[in-house]
Amino acid sequence: MLIGVQYGDEGKARVIDNIAHEYDIIARFNGGPNAGHTIEVGDKRLALHQVPSGVFHPDMLLYVGSGCVLNLEKLLQELKEIKNNDLVLDERLFISDQATVIQPHHILLDKITGKEIGTTANGIGPAYADRALRRDGTYLKNLRLGDVLDDPQLARETIVGNYQQTVARYQLSENDIQDKAEHIIVAAHILQKAICRNPLFLDGLVRRGKNVLFEGAQASMLDVVKGTVPYVTSSHTIAGSAYVGGDLSPQYHRKTIGVAKAIMSRVGNGPFVSEFGGATSEEYCAEEECGKTKHTREFEEHAYSVSELLQSGDLFKLGIALRMLGNEYGATTKRPRRMGMLDLVALAHNCRINGVDELYLNKVDCLADFDRTFMKGIPLVEGYLLEGQEISYVPGTSKGNRNAQSIIKYYPHIKGDLSEIRNYFSLPAETQELVKAIENLLIVM
Ligand code: IMO
Ligand code: MG
Repeated sequence: MLIGVQYGDEGKARVIDNIAHEYDIIARFNGGPNAGHTIEVGDKRLALHQVPSGVFHPDMLLYVGSGCVLNLEKLLQELKEIKNNDLVLDERLFISDQATVIQPHHILLDKITGKEIGTTANGIGPAYADRALRRDGTYLKNLRLGDVLDDPQLARETIVGNYQQTVARYQLSENDIQDKAEHIIVAAHILQKAICRNPLFLDGLVRRGKNVLFEGAQASMLDVVKGTVPYVTSSHTIAGSAYVGGDLSPQYHRKTIGVAKAIMSRVGNGPFVSEFGGATSEEYCAEEECGKTKHTREFEEHAYSVSELLQSGDLFKLGIALRMLGNEYGATTKRPRRMGMLDLVALAHNCRINGVDELYLNKVDCLADFDRTFMKGIPLVEGYLLEGQEISYVPGTSKGNRNAQSIIKYYPHIKGDLSEIRNYFSLPAETQELVKAIENLLIVM
């Protein structure tokens, strides 16, 4: 089991790529096209959203569990790109027929209602909401892949009916829903061979000795209940939920691997205690021009000089520089990611709620960037101050998170280019000491 323990984009796919040889199957249990893994192997670069990581490992089976919500047309597109990279997925990809189909009205609704949260506008929230609603008086709400295959006519009526109902409710103009419905049904038909009709499929493989790696999409702090509600995604992202959405019983759980990033990032709105530049950064990153993200990578590269930002003495500007240096822009939406210090209160909290056994800390080399800044050392958040009280957990409410202040400790700068170092013992002494200090703090916090 592998999950992100911050706000997503921790580099989960990269870790999976390193440990994939220990497994036979990589399985998704949550989320959908909101996830984004950019995988680079050699000169090949693939941005995956719905297909599990591991496509580059030719013998690896890929499973998409019942806990996922799928955009079938986008999935076909993704499979086409994978094929264009000379990778074969025939007989390797299996998708649960219990997975929920994202319908056009979900995307429509997300565009209207998801703005304040800063969703990826993929229809994720409305699809999970409809999954819980099951059906209303007239229409099936939770349309699953198997339903589309079993009864295409019912699927057509469902998709069209739900769309028309939404259009009427929000007084929108209707467009070509018949075509859209047809595309979904055709896509399900094309995917038929990959659609798994046996809910015990994964169980059978594991009982025959195969090893599964569950791959969490999004991350622990974006969990629909345990995260920074309401600024979260709409699925359960925490480790325990893999044994619901992943179609395997917890009897087979072995270990939980967490993935974190040494300089944190967050995309979308919501509390982020250790953010460089606080609310200014949050607003700046959300800014749009003509309905499109304003501060893209291209914009920032054109507009700023990294060295000036690093020396500016301004935390908000420092965040921009660290984003540019770390190339922290959304794989799914191209949005600039908000940047923040490594928050050990949040990390320890999320290691506890997931029962993390092993933790990968990505992008430690980026901490060397602080040496080029006005900061007196590498800042780590080691406590929160809330209403005059020191606390060592992430508050349960938005207000608590917004009001929590970081207690920061500075560690000696680490120097030089660490990006090619592949082994802990080859790291400079001060970096080894920093990693050890983080590890020790996580154990005692
Ligand atoms: P990976 O798998 C980072 C964020 C969105 C938004 C909130 C809700 O690449 O780590 P949604 O579209 O899910 O309803 O949006 O969740 N979000 C992610 N942030 N990485 C992701 O996935 C994310 N998936 C969703 O930005 O704040
Ligand atoms: Mg991502």
